[in-house]
Amino acid sequence: MTGLLDGHLAFVTGGGSGIGQGIAEGYAREGARVIAADVNLVGAEETARHVKDAGGEAWAMKLDVTDMQGVQSMARKVEAGIGPVSILVNNAGIVRRATIDSGNAIDDWNDTVAVNITGLFNCVHSFQDQLKATKGRVINIGSIQSFVHTPNSVAYTTSKGAVKNFTIGMAAELAPFGVRVNAIGPGLIFTPLNEAGIQQQPEMLERFMRHIPMGRPGKPEDIVGPAIFLASDLSQYVTGVLIPSDGGYLTV
Ligand SMILES: NC(=O)c1ccc[n+]([C@@H]2O[C@H](COP(=O)([O-])OP(=O)(O)OC[C@H]3O[C@@H](n4cnc5c(N)ncnc54)[C@H](O)[C@@H]3O)[C@@H](O)[C@H]2O)c1
Repeated sequence: MTGLLDGHLAFVTGGGSGIGQGIAEGYAREGARVIAADVNLVGAEETARHVKDAGGEAWAMKLDVTDMQGVQSMARKVEAGIGPVSILVNNAGIVRRATIDSGNAIDDWNDTVAVNITGLFNCVHSFQDQLKATKGRVINIGSIQSFVHTPNSVAYTTSKGAVKNFTIGMAAELAPFGVRVNAIGPGLIFTPLNEAGIQQQPEMLERFMRHIPMGRPGKPEDIVGPAIFLASDLSQYVTGVLIPSDGGYLTV
């Protein structure tokens, strides 16, 4: 059987949980070989195991996307040991919900910028030669917060707005090399990222639900289809866009 991503090697950051795990497994179903790279190696290993159990090819690697030297050496290691990466998914991200007068505001800001913005730069910078050589594709994971704010998360809103602009900037710069750069803006997706927050603040869930005309929260699988589309030749003339997948959150 042929898949939409046959012949591709995908590198998925934050591939050990939630949306990244879903994307890695979805790419493998479409024929890609996948590398799940995560600061949480146990999660990445779980992803790789799922892929292998389903008959695919996968690797798990421990990576902190904020560590430029670490990302650079991993890019070299991947190219030498497995091959050039043709799909880079910049998915690793964190959210800290607190007001700017909270005691942790400074750390929250610095950590969020480091993972959600600098992490993307570190990965594209490190894999740029491989992406050019393969005429590859980059998929950045933004958010509905690339467009709007939700309570007590100014660092996150800022960071996800930056993902949108990083996407258009890189799309323009890399298009002459045949590399396409797009993004996805998930709405509320039930993953470990927001599990605790929702349990502690059930009113947050109610607030989100009032904004979801489709009447249900999302699941990682709701992001997999757009991620396959943007990685495959189905989107061969698409670059520099951010596709929301949010049950209609941004409409109301
Ligand atoms: N879940 C949602 O509702 C939602 C909504 C919009 C956007 N997003 C975005 O989707 C992406 C994935 O989120 P998720 O919901 O699957 O969260 P998650 O917490 O389930 O998974 C995130 C993964 O990123 C990894 N990670 C965190 N910091 C890292 C670092 N420095 N280096 C490498 N890996 C790191 C974590 O270990 C984890 O495995 C994030 O960018 C998030 O901002 C999520």
